[in-house]
Order: sequence, then structure tokens, then C-alpha cells
Amino acid sequence: MVMPNLVKDAAYIAYESTLKKEVLSGEIPQHIAIIMDGNRRYAEEVLGESTIKGHTMGREKLKEVLEWCMDLKVKHLTLFAFSTENFKRDPEEVNYIMELMEKSFYEYADSEEVHKYRVGIKVIGDRNLFPESLLKAVEYAEEKTKDYNELTVYMAVGYGGRQDIANAVRCIAAKVRDGELDLDDIDEDLISSAISTSDIPDPDLVLRTSGEVRLSNFLLWQMAYSELYFTDVYWPGFRYIDFLRAIRTYQQRKRRYGA
Ligand code: FPP
Repeated sequence: MVMPNLVKDAAYIAYESTLKKEVLSGEIPQHIAIIMDGNRRYAEEVLGESTIKGHTMGREKLKEVLEWCMDLKVKHLTLFAFSTENFKRDPEEVNYIMELMEKSFYEYADSEEVHKYRVGIKVIGDRNLFPESLLKAVEYAEEKTKDYNELTVYMAVGYGGRQDIANAVRCIAAKVRDGELDLDDIDEDLISSAISTSDIPDPDLVLRTSGEVRLSNFLLWQMAYSELYFTDVYWPGFRYIDFLRAIRTYQQRKRRYGA
């Protein structure tokens, strides 16, 4: 029926606008990190489609989230796109996602909006695991946006939080071995400076979709003091109001703990 949908849409727009005003009157988290989960379940349970379709929709959702971040002037966004464990999935699915990502990196790097808004794109994770063509796309996007930092987008691909810490430790240990550092120089700040996201602040807010309440080896070192927010919505169904609600909850918690 047309009418109820129109009423629903109007109510949704009004609610979104009220929420946005409320959120903009408070502190916007500088760095938001997102575990994008639930693509396959969305495709199967909500659309009754093949699971792979969920990833295409997940990719579309990502574009919207970038726009929301620009709209709210979020400075840094880190997205868990593909974990090291995800490489163990059916090769057909893995290839499909790799191709989607490859396409996305070229698209972002050439997008008018990315250049207009000066969005810097960077990738963290084990590049040895990437197919050659994805690696090329990643390098293309990083090179084309390397001078931008209005919004920095870190895409975690082939990423694991423990591996990130292990890499930092290896790097520091090599400096101790070579006499560039003393054992006593090793402290939290030094480890933070050797971690993959060392050029941006730690996440203020970490958000996960799809009802799972786990960190799944995401930014383990970096999220020591982050606010965590879990929502039941599957990633492709995530709406601006869900994003705004997450930020509002972050602001409410900050106010409570601050007092
Ligand atoms: C999580 O849902 C999603 C993934 C493991 C893949 C993420 C891929 C995208 C968002 C699409 C393309 C990405 C980029 C960076 C352009 P799931 O597959 O674990 O779904 P489930 O939890 O329902 O099984």
C-alpha cells in the first residue's frame, strides 16, 4: 500500500533530522571503527537471495556510511572489511569479495566526491594475502589520495589485531637488537607508534552490526578505551538513524562517565 509507506518515510525523515540535530549539538567522535557484519544473513533472511548478493549490498552501504561521516565531519573511519580468518571461506566467495573490493578501490580513487572532500584512503592488513590485482587497486587508491586527511578511511583487509600487535613487537625488537632502542624505552606510547594506525588517534567508538557481541580480533590494542556499541541490524540494512543512535549513545555515556 502506498499511503502507509509514505507516512512511514515521512516519519523516518523527520526522526532522522531530529536525531541529527541532537547529535550535532554534542561531541562527534573523531574516530569511528566499524565491524561490518551480517551481509550473508541479510541476503538470505531478509531478501531470500543468495548469500553473495549480501556482499554487493554491503559494498553499497559503505558508500552511504562515507557520506554520513562527511555529513557529520567524523575525522577518521576504520572499517573491518575482511579478516585474516575470512580467507578460509569458500574460494568462490573470497574471490567475489576480492573483486568487489578491487572495483571499490578504483571507484573511490576516481570519485569526484573523494577528491572534493579530500578523503584519504589507506589499507591495513597483511598485503601478502592479497591477489595481485587487489594490491594494485589498493596502491592506486592510496597514491591518489595520499595528501588528503579531511576524512581518513582505513580499510582493514586481511587484518588481525593480534597480528598487528605481533608486527609492532617484531619491529621494536629489531630496533633493540640493532642498538637503536633500549629495553627501557619500551612503553605504551612506543607500541602505539609501531601499530598499523599510528598516525590517527585510537577509536572513540567501535560499532558492530548484526547482533554479534564480539571483537573478533579487530583493533585490539587501539580499542583499550573505546566505547563499544552493538546493534542487531545486519550491515546492508544499517540506516543513518542507526548510525546516529550509536553516536548519541556514545555522547550519553561520555556525559555520564565524565560526571
Ligand atoms: C561480513 O558479513 C562481511 C564480510 C566478511 C565481507 C565484507 C565485505 C563488504 C562489506 C563488501 C565489500 C567491501 C569493501 C571494502 C568495498 P558476513 O559475510 O560475515 O555475513 P554473516 O555474518 O551474515 O555470515
